[in-house]
Amino acid sequence: MTTTRAPAVEARQLIKTYAGDVTALRGMDVTVEPGTVFGLLGPNGAGKSTTVKILTTLARPDSGSATVAGHDVLRHPDRVRRAIGVVAQSSGADPVATGHENLQLQGRLYGLKGADLSRRVAELLDRFNLADAAKRPVKGYSGGMRRRLDVALGLVHRPEVLFLDEPTTGLDPEARTAMWDEIDRLAGEEGLTILLTTHYLDEADRLAERIAIVDRGRVVVEGTPDALKGELRGDAVHLELSQAVGEAGRTLLEGAIGRLTGLHEVLVDGRRVSVRADDGAAAVPALLGALDRAGVGVAAATVARPSLDDVYLRYAGRRYSEADTQSTDGLVLAGGAR
Ligand SMILES: Nc1ncnc2c1ncn2[C@@H]1O[C@H](COP(=O)(O)OP(=O)(O)OP(=O)(O)O)[C@@H](O)[C@H]1O
Ligand SMILES: [Mg+2]
Repeated sequence: MTTTRAPAVEARQLIKTYAGDVTALRGMDVTVEPGTVFGLLGPNGAGKSTTVKILTTLARPDSGSATVAGHDVLRHPDRVRRAIGVVAQSSGADPVATGHENLQLQGRLYGLKGADLSRRVAELLDRFNLADAAKRPVKGYSGGMRRRLDVALGLVHRPEVLFLDEPTTGLDPEARTAMWDEIDRLAGEEGLTILLTTHYLDEADRLAERIAIVDRGRVVVEGTPDALKGELRGDAVHLELSQAVGEAGRTLLEGAIGRLTGLHEVLVDGRRVSVRADDGAAAVPALLGALDRAGVGVAAATVARPSLDDVYLRYAGRRYSEADTQSTDGLVLAGGAR
């Protein structure tokens, strides 16, 4: 007999408009299976944090419905709160208190006390590599330490579902990798359901079993990272011509390349030629041959596996890096999207 477990998170058609007529969500749908990591991926202002706020009972939608851990967020917010851990986009730790004090306080808020609380706090300090810094005020912590403490705070009461709103934004590469390993471990060893939001395509690709690409308040496409990339058929081959071609040359080249087998979506633009190939490496000699016969010189050729950036371009209709980079927190994330 197969048993189907209810989704850990299910949001249907969430709509949210803020004062000043900003429509943050325009029919947001999210389903997260228990024990999986789900990534909400999108640029600044896409509606990721608003979705998290509604799912964690910190905001109410204008319409739509949502359940988390089987509880309705509007009818039973208290039950939802007990079942979830939340790591907000900006840190919730008290900077004047020590890491140890922050964890103690959080534990008490969730009804832990005595030896049970001390054990849990020690366990988390150890686990997040904060034991040495436990007695120091949080204001002296590095960005990576602070973020690790934020995650530890979200886990004190052993939640079933953990929400991580941009867990690695602002971290240096080393701290980011350490955080990725920790998230992997939480999902793998503890079977926690994790919904994370991110700007980073590589982060979603690396951590999430399923990804929803969010743009302007709704999901534009959803699937596993591989399925999303697989939809793009084959490799991307880019050539740089030694000279730009005009309109007539463009038509001629597109025709000549299009007749080669295993190549699709031929695009010639000035000095740039881009093509999708079933097998990128094998396509390059044939491409160079065709261009040579057409009397066109080639300065450089590159072959790339399709990235989530290509997926984003296809579904959101613009490059990820061209999407608004002004964060709603007023923080500019230069080069954040890749
Ligand atoms: N409290 C608020 N009052 C008014 N507008 C808001 C508020 N919070 C968010 N918005 C607006 O709603 C839209 C969605 O914001 P949201 O914070 O959900 O996006 P996000 O995807 O989390 O962005 P970021 O990547 O910058 O964190 C944006 O246009 C934002 O300016
Ligand atoms: Mg946000």
